[in-house]
Amino acid sequence: MGVLDGKVAIVTGAGRGVGRCHAEALAAAGARVVVADLGESARETVAAIAARGGQASPFLGSVASWEAAEALVATALETYGDLDIVVNNAGFIRDAPCFAMEEEPFDAVVEVHLKGHYAVTRFAIRHWREAAKAAGEGAELAPRRIINTTSESGLFGGPGQINYASAKGGIVSMTMVEARELGRYAVTANCIAPRARTPMTEVNPKFARPAEGFDRYDPANVSPVVVWLASDLAAGVSGQVFIVLGDQIHRMQPAVVAASITNGGAAWTPEQIAARHDELFGAAGSGVPAWAGPPM
Ligand SMILES: NC(=O)c1ccc[n+]([C@@H]2O[C@H](COP(=O)([O-])OP(=O)(O)OC[C@H]3O[C@@H](n4cnc5c(N)ncnc54)[C@H](O)[C@@H]3O)[C@@H](O)[C@H]2O)c1
Repeated sequence: MGVLDGKVAIVTGAGRGVGRCHAEALAAAGARVVVADLGESARETVAAIAARGGQASPFLGSVASWEAAEALVATALETYGDLDIVVNNAGFIRDAPCFAMEEEPFDAVVEVHLKGHYAVTRFAIRHWREAAKAAGEGAELAPRRIINTTSESGLFGGPGQINYASAKGGIVSMTMVEARELGRYAVTANCIAPRARTPMTEVNPKFARPAEGFDRYDPANVSPVVVWLASDLAAGVSGQVFIVLGDQIHRMQPAVVAASITNGGAAWTPEQIAARHDELFGAAGSGVPAWAGPPM
């Protein structure tokens, strides 16, 4: 018995890296998985899953294409008869300082992450809404899951990644919208920021495999969190953001009002605001907020 027996999942960017680990872990937990990626690597992941007795099908196409996203969801429905879990993970980086970023890499990175996350989810949501309507008022609905992928760059503002950080920050907002809008259809939406050794990050020597002991940056360490979020074990968990690395899970605080000042029923003047500086900012000060992620 796996915690995902009978479920159908899509994982995007599952030909390698973190996405491949997610697809393998979901399949090992009993899900039938549509492995989506740009090219033949999708078939390699499918073969690896099949070799361990799991069920998976490849889908080759770009999540940044509306048509391909629609075809991807249709593939899950036609192959396995339903769709329960969407793991949006595909993407790439094209870094440059913000004074030097060009239009093409800006658009490409925003497209693959921000549009790519929404496009796949959009067609899944339409199926889930239709299924809920067909079930009728008051019917118990099958639980559905959206698991999105942000990054610490998106949460804190990674220097050199104006395109990527902006897109990944947008994915957090997207997750909140989905969580708020879709609860009525029994859909939860959550977001993870993985930290792992993959072709995207292996240039960083800090991610290297240790000679001995726990391999903290093994990408497979991230996937149990995805399996948990995808399963009925995480019923009621929605609108949450987690940084996930090694043996650590960090739940992020939602955006909150940190301090408030009011002006006694009159509009502010700039001088009045300046005079209340310390009340507004307190001990935190008004400079660029510290990078508040877990240490390497
Ligand atoms: N590795 C990390 O430490 C880390 C940190 C923060 C966020 N992330 C995020 O995790 C996700 C996975 O990253 P990774 O490190 O495994 O990267 P990776 O480069 O190893 O894998 C990304 C996969 O996405 C696929 N892909 C790219 N564009 C695509 C498209 N248009 N359509 C379909 N597939 C596409 C690639 O072919 C590749 O197989 C990404 O969203 C990344 O931004 C990773």
